[in-house]
Order: sequence, then structure tokens, then C-alpha cells
Amino acid sequence: MANVTVIGAQWGDEGKGKIVDWLAERADVVARFQGGHNAGHTLVVGEKVYKLSLLPSGIVRGTLSVIGNGVVLDPWHFKEEVAKLAGQGVAITPDNLQIAETCPLILPFHRDLDGLREDASGAGKIGTTRRGIGPAYEDKVGRRAIRVCDLAHLDDLGPQLDRLTAHHDALRAGFGEPPIDRDALMDELRAIADTILPFAKPVWLTLNRAKADGKRILFEGAQGTLLDIDHGTYPFVTSSNTIAGTAAAGTGLGPSAAGFVLGIVKAYTTRVGSGPFPTELDDATGQRLGERGHEFGTVTGRKRRCGWFDAVLVRQSVAVSGLTGIALTKLDVLDGFDELKICVGYTIGDQSYDYLPAHSQDQARAQPVYETIEGWHDTTAGARSWADLPAQAIKYIRRIEELIGCPVTLVSTSPERDDTILVRDPFAD
Ligand code: IMP
Repeated sequence: MANVTVIGAQWGDEGKGKIVDWLAERADVVARFQGGHNAGHTLVVGEKVYKLSLLPSGIVRGTLSVIGNGVVLDPWHFKEEVAKLAGQGVAITPDNLQIAETCPLILPFHRDLDGLREDASGAGKIGTTRRGIGPAYEDKVGRRAIRVCDLAHLDDLGPQLDRLTAHHDALRAGFGEPPIDRDALMDELRAIADTILPFAKPVWLTLNRAKADGKRILFEGAQGTLLDIDHGTYPFVTSSNTIAGTAAAGTGLGPSAAGFVLGIVKAYTTRVGSGPFPTELDDATGQRLGERGHEFGTVTGRKRRCGWFDAVLVRQSVAVSGLTGIALTKLDVLDGFDELKICVGYTIGDQSYDYLPAHSQDQARAQPVYETIEGWHDTTAGARSWADLPAQAIKYIRRIEELIGCPVTLVSTSPERDDTILVRDPFAD
């Protein structure tokens, strides 16, 4: 048995969609294990472009797809995404999709609260996707959540709903908002229950059986390591653990199932939302990276911040996720630069660091120490073998490998799935 766990090794948007799609074709099951519809995975299959936020990427190819317990599920968004894909010819049924019965639900007041808090935070705002992700995870950990399995027992919700609404009504009052309309909420839940319940399954059992049968499982991470609630640039992070170790807790399979841990790494750095970003380029070079890389958020359409490759951060991601290898994406965006910079350390005041310190003020003050490397003028777009790459591009890749302490498993040279240089097949291990 060879499983693969895919995670983002920077601040998300590393190009996971294409790689997961490519791997999903050879997987028997694809499982999401954290996050929700804050993710944005773009898959290009032939002429068609699919944009997924909540559904595992395997669904487009008909591979059995699983939404694990670690995901927070907005049932109304689910319905919309399923309808959108149906419009593109992808039929989603309980035969190809299962949702963990234990997934906490994102409810309309979670979305409201996310927006209210952001609006009230002024310059200190996180820049969330405003989709209610954080508030839904808070209720999960606070043991107040309504979960998928509750949709089959709505008439028994009584005391659970009392606790949940009492908590939120107090918060809403602080923002001058009216209390939750419980009757309206119950009506909405009753109306959506039949859409969700046919997919609700003990997915931990499905996955454990798949594992016992020697099936190939692909764990699909969302966001990136630097957005991890523990290991990221807190508090400018998402509300889940995004590192590879979460694949086990977020699905109900033991940690030995993770298999080959593949980190997706963009050949430069981007970030969407607020927070520290030591190699950010607020100049023409940053602009050029953004334009060439089409750096706009899939979910919110926001412009992504762009900067040089930060080897220190990726080295940290290699460590905290125990990466086996990386997939390097968007190398072609760097075509045509006379020289490129790679961050190899930081200084904060007169102190030098070879890792990013934990405190957000230190992170904000961190000045990158750069190494400069000659660029290349030939195109790397569409390269499918090392022989297609300019010598300097190969040098850039080799230097990245050295600095992060992790080998390149594949290089992606365009959104097209076949424009890939495969060094080692993650499923073959
Ligand atoms: P939230 O996940 O909506 O709470 O947003 C928290 C932070 O994570 C914000 O900076 C978002 O921009 C960022 N974020 C959430 N999901 C993604 C993603 O899929 N890609 C990139 N950034 C994300």
C-alpha cells in the first residue's frame, strides 16, 4: 500500500489543485481532512476549468471522495458547489462522495460573526475569507457545534441548541445584532438535511477498510503550513491545523497511513490576507510576479501579495510536516528575470535567525537575508523533462533543494496536467 498526503508548504495557493488532480487519477480514495470552503482548488482538465472549494479534488475524475471529520461543512455552500459541478457534467452521488457524520456545520450566524469581527478589527483584521470557518471551529472545540449526524435528530436538538444560541446571542449583542431566530434556523436545517444526510457515513470506517484492502488513499490538504493554527504566523492564520499530521486526526486513520508526504511549494512566495511576510515585494518586481502568476484569490478574488522565495519558511514546513518531497510549481513565472533572490535567513535588530521566531511583532520586523542567483531568459513553460529546462533554472531548483533539505519530487511548468517533470512517483514508494 502506498498513500500520499499533499499539503501546502507556504501560505496556501501553491497550486495544490493540479497536483492533487494528477495524483487523484491514480488514487482509489481522495480525502480532505481540514478546512472548509475557504480553500480554492483550480483543476484544468482538457478544455474545462473546475473550481472547487469544499469538495475533494478527486470528485472531478469520479474517484471516491471523502470529506473527513476535520473539515467544517457549510451545507448550503455544499449544495451550491454540487449543483455547479453538475452543471459542468460531474455527477455527485453517495457512490462517489461520503461526508463524515461528525463534521461540524458552518451555520449562517458563523458567517455573520466572521464578517462582523473583521469589520470591527480595522487595521488588525486577519483578512479571512469571511466564510465562517473560524467561528465554526470555535464551536467545535467549545463542544457546542451542530454536526452532520445531528441533522438526522433535529427534534432532539433542544439543550444543545440552547447552549449554542445563548453563546452566540451574547456575542451578537456585543455587535448590536439581534438574537438568532431559532425557528428560522430550524426551518433552514430541516430544509437542507435531506441534501446532506444521504452522503453522511462513518468515513473513518470506509477509510480503514480501504486501507485494509490495500487501496491507495490520497489525503488532500487545504491552505498551507504558514496558515496552521499552531505552526503558522499566528494570529494571521486559519483556524485548523494544516500540517500533514492532521490527515490522521481529521479522517480517523492512524498516523502510519500518511505515506509519502508531498509539500506543494511555489517557486516564489505569495500570501493573501494580512500578516507578516518577510520577503514581500512592494515594488515593480512584486507586481510582475503577481501579473505573470495571475495571483488573485480563487475564493475571494483578492490580489495576492508576492515576494521572493523564502527558503527559511519552507525549511520550517519541511520539518513540521515531515515532508518526503516537494512539488515545485509556477517555475515559469520566474522566466526572464536577470537575477533572482532567495531568502536564507533573517535579521531582527542585531540578531540573526535561521527560523521564523514565534512572536508576530518579531515576524513583522524580520528582515530577509538574501542570496542572489542568476536568472534565465529561455522559457520553462510547458517543460516536461530536465532537458527542456535552462541550466540556470536547474541550478535554482537544486539550490532550493539544498536550502530546504528536501528533494524535488516533481516540477510543474504550467496549469496543464501533463506539463510536469516527474522525478519520483509518490505513489510508487
Ligand atoms: P479563514 O480561513 O477564512 O479564517 O482565513 C484566515 C486566513 O487564511 C486569511 O489570511 C485567509 O486569506 C487565509 N486563507 C484561508 N484559506 C486560504 C486558502 O485556501 N488559500 C490561501 N489563503 C487562505
